[in-house]
Amino acid sequence: MQDKIKFLSQKIDTFTANGSDELEALRIQYLSKKGEITALFNDFRNVPNEQKREIGQLLNVLRDKAQNKINDLKEALESAQVVEKGMDLTRTADPIALGTRHPLSIVKNEIIDIFSRIGFTIAEGPEIEDDWHVFGALNFAPEHPARDMQDTFFIEQHPDVLLRTHTSSVQSRVMTSQKPPIRVLCPGRVYRNEAISYRAHCFFHQVEGLYIDKQVSFADLKQALLYFAKEMFGEHTQIRLRPSYFPFTEPSAEMDISCNLCGGKGCPFCKHTGWVEILGCGMVDPNVLNECGIDSSEYTGYAFGMGVERITNLKYQVKDLRMFSENDVRFLQQFKAAY
Ligand code: PHE
Repeated sequence: MQDKIKFLSQKIDTFTANGSDELEALRIQYLSKKGEITALFNDFRNVPNEQKREIGQLLNVLRDKAQNKINDLKEALESAQVVEKGMDLTRTADPIALGTRHPLSIVKNEIIDIFSRIGFTIAEGPEIEDDWHVFGALNFAPEHPARDMQDTFFIEQHPDVLLRTHTSSVQSRVMTSQKPPIRVLCPGRVYRNEAISYRAHCFFHQVEGLYIDKQVSFADLKQALLYFAKEMFGEHTQIRLRPSYFPFTEPSAEMDISCNLCGGKGCPFCKHTGWVEILGCGMVDPNVLNECGIDSSEYTGYAFGMGVERITNLKYQVKDLRMFSENDVRFLQQFKAAY
């Protein structure tokens, strides 16, 4: 028996196979039910008891050796086939395609980046808010018609709970929880009950800013906004402030920038005026400071708020607002940016 094992073991060393048929023949010859190695296992019962231990071990080693050899040959055959089919296993892999960022995220991050360079930090708050943070704290009297400026979604049966219509609600939260100096940006999604069309949606995104300290003036506001406009739209951008009205700021203004498509000469985009509106701003109304627990005889502040969709449209000329929320990859894949 031992001689036979030795003989077979040497034979295994010489195994070769030129194809899967030959390999299968080897397997059948040695390892199948009627194979030579299997036959040895069958003879095992005739081995004298005192030799069983030693022979049993030798047999196991032999069977494993044959199985391993056949596996190795199989692998070698398979990789040879790959090369035959013309695959080059040494070729560098294709580069992994990087994802793209949503255009609104790109622009939001750019706005944040620009203002963070002059000391603004980020504050966030809930999208489902109470009336006080969205309106009450911000000088909207209970029946104030200005509440109609922003068509509000209320939570049914809870007239006090609503979807925030602007991220000024986060400013209310910051003013009631922090002491001046305050310099925050409030980015986030806001909701207004508007019919959906190419130019309006029931939700959009804002970045609002708030700066409160001693002796903050309108000149500071203008300077910060001019800096922002130039950083965002280019060194040659000009700004213009028009008087406006918001309950929470006094005086209030809307800011236009020189049309970045025609450079201010006039084109269909700016309706031939040379200017396009990009944000609302003003000095925080003393009533708001007092309501939020900040002494308006000691502190003043400015605030501004802009729509991220609007800025994105100006940068990338996206004609239909709905594209931002339809998740069409053909649209989204066009936006590649460092932000
Ligand atoms: N909250 C205003 C809006 O949603 C924007 C704004 C913010 C205006 C701060 C002035 C000051 O329209």
